[in-house]
Amino acid sequence: MNTVGIDAVEIWTGNLRLDLPDTFAPQKGEDPEKYTKGLGLNASSFPDSYEDIVTMAANAAYRLMDRKGLEPEDIGRIDVATESAFDNSKPVSTYVAGCLEQVYGQDFHHANKGERKFACIAGTQSLDDAYNWIKAGRNRGRGALVIATDTALYARGDAGEATQGAGAVAMYITEDPSLVELSTEQGYGSADETDFLKPNQQFPSVDGKRSVQVYLARMREALTDYESVAGDIHPDDIAYVPFHTPFPGMVRKAGLLAYRHVTRDTEIEEELAAEIGRQPRREAFDDEDAYREAVREYMDALKETDRYRGWYAETIDPTLTISREVGNWYTGSVHVARASALKHALEDGRDLAGESLYVGSYGSGAQAEIHEETVVEGWEAEIEALNVDAQLADRHDLTWEEYERIHDAHNHDVDSDVEPLTTPEDEFAFDGWGPMGERQ
Ligand code: HMG
Repeated sequence: MNTVGIDAVEIWTGNLRLDLPDTFAPQKGEDPEKYTKGLGLNASSFPDSYEDIVTMAANAAYRLMDRKGLEPEDIGRIDVATESAFDNSKPVSTYVAGCLEQVYGQDFHHANKGERKFACIAGTQSLDDAYNWIKAGRNRGRGALVIATDTALYARGDAGEATQGAGAVAMYITEDPSLVELSTEQGYGSADETDFLKPNQQFPSVDGKRSVQVYLARMREALTDYESVAGDIHPDDIAYVPFHTPFPGMVRKAGLLAYRHVTRDTEIEEELAAEIGRQPRREAFDDEDAYREAVREYMDALKETDRYRGWYAETIDPTLTISREVGNWYTGSVHVARASALKHALEDGRDLAGESLYVGSYGSGAQAEIHEETVVEGWEAEIEALNVDAQLADRHDLTWEEYERIHDAHNHDVDSDVEPLTTPEDEFAFDGWGPMGERQ
């Protein structure tokens, strides 16, 4: 069987931008550095009043199909991952297919369509579904269109409000892909958790501080599980680690956890020992609290070492560049992190073919998953085609009053009719509901 992976990727951002240090922080009475340095965010992408998960998904998908010269006939399934769905019956992929059919004048009747939900990890789960479908030989030579799309909005005043975002990532999954091949091996960490959830409600109920701990606990389990099937990961064998990025500060913590994990029992741990001692071993402690305290002290020392800082700067920091400007895109977030890393490598003229990405996906509720991706020859052309910088630069900067109105426009509990702040150009735009709830 040939290799299977991501052949092409496209990113579509919401058309508005909320500046965190200059617009958000003064309104909250907070130090701007809480956002820029603490959370690691400069801005959020926000959807204009004519944008939603369908328009953003269809725009990303159309850009991808158009660039790759794909016809509906080439696509055997359309899977949409989202946690912002507005329809409990019809999957978002049917709405997206409807948009694309208008442009192509051809139908997708032959294509299987579905919607995946498991908070932010659903984007990666859809990727896995596509991978498995192709590996099983059920694809009849066709590829899968996987789209992760979300309007990641929080209630006004919620601690998560600073981490909002809106955008979509479309990926084309095929045999002999042009970007990255996916490993068969995967590692999981999964538990029933209630730190972030939306039971019949639009905005999440969040225990933010706990959600950070749950993310780290599940990611640690996923790493251990991955190594149990694929063997130990050595830090020198990792080009980049794109993590799910609700905000870059979260990934700072995940990066440190991952480094401690992959350096354990290696020559790097020995070399670091002279400076900060060896990692605490659980079996050496009778008392769980004493063990945890020793780990905390080791991690605090580790993060100050030149060795760790250098590794973080090369392996993790490049995954965060786009995220700093767009906030959390929920299901799309880890796929934005991958694109950000590859874009850095391209800009640095780095030859990445054959190198490994370890992709750490996460969704509240909660589940983490790790798999390896191998960058394939010719990957540069796919990344060169991204116009994400231009999209980000073209966003309309929101004033605080505009932000309040647009947030209300997307709030299902507020009856508002808000004029758009931008004019849609060559893109799908929502202009209301028609008879029987049909989207116009
Ligand atoms: P908060 O209470 O506003 O912020 O909530 P804080 O006081 O904890 O400060 C944040 C960081 O900024 C801290 O750094 C501060 O020290 C630092 P840390 O100690 O954590 O390294 N800080 C400053 N730094 C420099 N200068 C300053 C300054 N002030 C403070 N002046 C919280 C933060 C994450 C709780 C909040 O944003 C939140 O609730 N977010 C939503 C939940 C979330 O994103 N959780 C992440 C893990 S769960 C996940 O990733 C899944 C998710 O994507 C959903 C899904 O899967 O569907 C959310």
